[in-house]
Amino acid sequence: MNESANHLITPLSPEFLVNPLPTYAYLRANQPVSPVALPDGGRAWLVTRYDDVRKGLSDPRLSNDQTRLPVSTPFDALPAAVRPAIVGDVQNLDPPDHTRIRRLLAPAFSAQAAERLRPRLVALAGELIDSFGERPQVDLVAEYAAPFAGRSLAEICGIPADQHEHFQSLANAVVTAIHGGTPDALVTPALELYEYIETLCAERETHTGEDLLSVLVREHKDGQLSRPELTSTIFGLLNAGQEGTANLIGNGLHLLLTHPAELARLQADPQLLPSAVEEFARYTAPLDLPIFRSSEKDTQFAGTAVPAHEPIMFSLLSAGHDESRFDKPAQLDIGRADNHHLAFGRGTHFCPGAPLARVQVQVAIGELLARTGSALRLAVAADQIVPRTSVVTRAVAALPCLIS
Ligand code: HEM
Repeated sequence: MNESANHLITPLSPEFLVNPLPTYAYLRANQPVSPVALPDGGRAWLVTRYDDVRKGLSDPRLSNDQTRLPVSTPFDALPAAVRPAIVGDVQNLDPPDHTRIRRLLAPAFSAQAAERLRPRLVALAGELIDSFGERPQVDLVAEYAAPFAGRSLAEICGIPADQHEHFQSLANAVVTAIHGGTPDALVTPALELYEYIETLCAERETHTGEDLLSVLVREHKDGQLSRPELTSTIFGLLNAGQEGTANLIGNGLHLLLTHPAELARLQADPQLLPSAVEEFARYTAPLDLPIFRSSEKDTQFAGTAVPAHEPIMFSLLSAGHDESRFDKPAQLDIGRADNHHLAFGRGTHFCPGAPLARVQVQVAIGELLARTGSALRLAVAADQIVPRTSVVTRAVAALPCLIS
């Protein structure tokens, strides 16, 4: 690990992404705010200690406005005329626009709204499990976690059932290009998704309903959201809403199937499901380094001088494994008390979808365990499970399982 002290870490290098935990442990102990090399040759700062990540995510000196950063992003190749209508979503905004749009989203994303969806989510999980039919082996990522996350979000947005597959393939292509592709790879899928969003919005201008998109279109008509804000908000929700949920369902199932004692504990006491989901989030951080922040001025951050406009990255995974905050962090404990992990972020950009994501993941995992019982097991050796990682994503590529 001494290498880390002498060389800039490259957070996109394959060895780092497959298992960043040893490097994070080294950095927490030795260089908690560390310079890292970006793929385009620029420099960023990586923050790894729980207390620093927690404070940093709420630091009013830091901006989320990605247009201020001197780094290339996958969105740079988009035509300038449509870029704001795609990238201007809440995640990239600062107050006061951020505050205004978060207020508009709040009612649809309350904990009560998420609970009201629970019965429909249970039915959706049942439909997907039924679709496994008599087949003894299924891939729980491609055939369960991903379609569950995608379809539930599509239903919340009021996307008709016969368009769910189309919507999911558009959104998947965008997410894949954002997290792993070249800048050019994003242009075509992003424009296709943007045009699809435009079509959905136009339909709701004549036929409004109670779905999330209808609510946002009405807010646009009332003058509370500009047209680019409307489409970029929807674009952001459709992307942010699928990847994290699908990853956490897959990661949670993967952890249970590789920790038989914890699986047995959950099967014996399903009341542990909510705390198990929090533990899966802490342990795996399905979205690790979600967004760059930066400061307008040179700043002292956690004792380190960070120059103005240099990106700062906060590792939510490293925070969840900080031994000064969590007792035995490397141990999976589905009943962990006092589990104030940061996997959903913190502060003004705290994930608005967290209440929904919690219910989704509880339902998806709970229903699958209830329906498959002790029959559920991996179809391959544990070391054959391939990670799917990027700077943001922490997930498994596939989870081949036997269910009978
Ligand atoms: C397990 C699932 C999820 C995880 C782990 C997750 C994680 C996160 C994190 C860490 C952030 C903060 C980013 C930052 O501070 O830079 C965030 C923001 C966000 N999430 Fe989630 N999320 C999940 C599910 C969802 C869902 C289901 C939705 C919506 C349907 C959603 C919508 C958003 C939006 C719109 C933001 C930007 C908020 C802002 O910048 O104010 N997320 N999410």
